[in-house]
Amino acid sequence: MPKVLITGGAGFIGSNIADLLLDKGYEVIAVDNLSTGSRKNLSKEAKLYVKDICRGDIRSVFEKERPDYVIHEAAQINVRTSVTDPVFDAKVNILGSLNLLECCKDYNVKKVLYASSGGAIYGEPVKLPADEKNPIRPLCPYGASKYSVENYLYIYKKNFGLDYVALRYANVYGPRQDPLGEAGVVAIFMSRLSGGEKPVIYGDGEQTRDYVYVGDVARANLLALEKRATGTEYNIGTGIETSVNQLYEKMRKAMSANVSAVHGKAVAGEVRRICLDNRLAQKELGWKPSVTLTEGLEKTMQWFTSRA
Ligand SMILES: NC(=O)c1ccc[n+]([C@@H]2O[C@H](COP(=O)([O-])OP(=O)(O)OC[C@H]3O[C@@H](n4cnc5c(N)ncnc54)[C@H](O)[C@@H]3O)[C@@H](O)[C@H]2O)c1
Repeated sequence: MPKVLITGGAGFIGSNIADLLLDKGYEVIAVDNLSTGSRKNLSKEAKLYVKDICRGDIRSVFEKERPDYVIHEAAQINVRTSVTDPVFDAKVNILGSLNLLECCKDYNVKKVLYASSGGAIYGEPVKLPADEKNPIRPLCPYGASKYSVENYLYIYKKNFGLDYVALRYANVYGPRQDPLGEAGVVAIFMSRLSGGEKPVIYGDGEQTRDYVYVGDVARANLLALEKRATGTEYNIGTGIETSVNQLYEKMRKAMSANVSAVHGKAVAGEVRRICLDNRLAQKELGWKPSVTLTEGLEKTMQWFTSRA
């Protein structure tokens, strides 16, 4: 079976992709510096190289393993960090990705899948749900760095024939999302509510997001790997807008928690409303989300409880 290298494979989404690929019989190796990921997220069937994508020595992994495919999930994922430290964000997300693409080019990788962000690159969309033709006007450095790599992918395909698919994820949630990080509102609310603590809602809570279950995102990666698609970007979301207040209420009821949230200051760089039109992914990848928010929250809660 083909060998797939997943960067960020010890992270939330990367480790879920690894599980699905292993299940389908692929050989999986991971590169992760464990800055936000954890060794215990990754299946023991996958080999982990603890390395930083920004450093030259990731080349040694390509030299040794000669992967057929690369799924690039490693990134600085925090919008707020990108606003306070845009240089760090660009170093990891742009320069780290370029370092990786150079290896993909030199070692004849068949296709690169890239984790882009439909939640961050469009800024405030001109219409909802936003489709892939929506103008790209990110409001935060994270959105700019994520989109910048899509441009490099296009260049590497044009100049060197490196095939790629960029998957523009909506707000991904599910098992293994880090509740202590600052991204991932579902994980943060769940951890706070189960501990009887008051979650903080930034701003008035009427900002909307498109919540997509991690299992559906992993399946989008599998399809993008196996289909002939190349040189394309796909939105991976549900097309459904849910406000943070609605999400909180849904979770509070599902967890029978009698805790009211507190409101904090709105965060700079965050969009007001977003949800993603997924019709292109439906048409060309045969992908559509299969897990509703209610079902996904249930699955996530079961994982949380089993872990506790
Ligand atoms: N979670 C979401 O809602 C969401 C939405 C859109 C896009 N994305 C993208 O999906 C990808 C995965 O995100 P996630 O939510 O699983 O986050 P995560 O933090 O769980 O995973 C990122 C992984 O990358 C690793 N990493 C970070 N910097 C690295 C470096 N310099 N070298 C090697 N490894 C490094 C971390 O240790 C971690 O394991 C990211 O590229 C993110 O931008 C996520």
